[in-house]
Amino acid sequence: MNTFAASSDVQAPLASLDEWEDFLKTRYPEPAESGAVAFRATDPEKKKEEFRNYEAEARPTVREFYRQNHRWQTHEFARAKREEFLTLQRREMGIWEAMEYLNQLVDDSDPDTDLSQLEHLLQTAEHIRADGQPRWFILTGLVHDLGKILCLWGEPQWAVVGDTFPTGCQFSDKIVFPQFFADNPDSQDPRYQSATGIYEPGCGLDQVQLSWGHDEYIYHVTKDYLPEEALYMLRYHSFYPWHRENEYTHLTNERDREMLHWVRQFNPYDLYTKNHAKPDTKALRPFYEDLIAEYFPAKLRW
Ligand SMILES: [Fe+2]
Ligand SMILES: [Fe+2]
Repeated sequence: MNTFAASSDVQAPLASLDEWEDFLKTRYPEPAESGAVAFRATDPEKKKEEFRNYEAEARPTVREFYRQNHRWQTHEFARAKREEFLTLQRREMGIWEAMEYLNQLVDDSDPDTDLSQLEHLLQTAEHIRADGQPRWFILTGLVHDLGKILCLWGEPQWAVVGDTFPTGCQFSDKIVFPQFFADNPDSQDPRYQSATGIYEPGCGLDQVQLSWGHDEYIYHVTKDYLPEEALYMLRYHSFYPWHRENEYTHLTNERDREMLHWVRQFNPYDLYTKNHAKPDTKALRPFYEDLIAEYFPAKLRW
């Protein structure tokens, strides 16, 4: 019995999951040149102004998506979903098979201009490869969004994508649309009202229960096979409050702070590689099948 059936019945606001990622690109525009970034960083007034703008400019669908996400992602919800999905007893699939499975995810995106899920994965990986990054890094790009298969199992958009954030402690006001947390029951729970909440300062992110989504899921599927740097990238790639806003550092430990650099290195490949030419899936497949076989068994548990 799914305790959260009622909440997952609410209408899916996004025409496609890409709408969320397109919004992220508006909020975190690709730096045109390093000088421009430095200027923004030293001009707090300018930054404040941009902070207001992205909310005002967000499409109503994106706004509604965040409203649902912030309303329903409670500490208890995040715990229950871990219990439901992380036993990995749904199916056995190889990585390429999972990519094709995810590709069944059809939404209202435009097939002529938008990338399929599989194309986004290949494109991310290809940009990492073109930069001469290590083979495990390329493979990380290839698998990073496979957790979105949760959508195919009836999970609502707000429980699969969206910027992730810690549950069980105070919500940071640097999280996008922080005002929507007013409707989250955790905002009334006395245990969660301090900066550390139920956690010890410096406990490490591994001890912190983030809101539930595709990052945590793919981390668990792949955790026995990839290097630690890769696992950090997978597990925290949507944790924008940490890797972009520098929030929640009081919960991190030494290891997290060392690994943050890798999470940040991954982010531009995810966010800024989408508008280029579509990858040739058939031509690329042999290279990626070899790479997959180098790290993963023929079948993994999902
Ligand atoms: Fe993602
Ligand atoms: Fe992605």
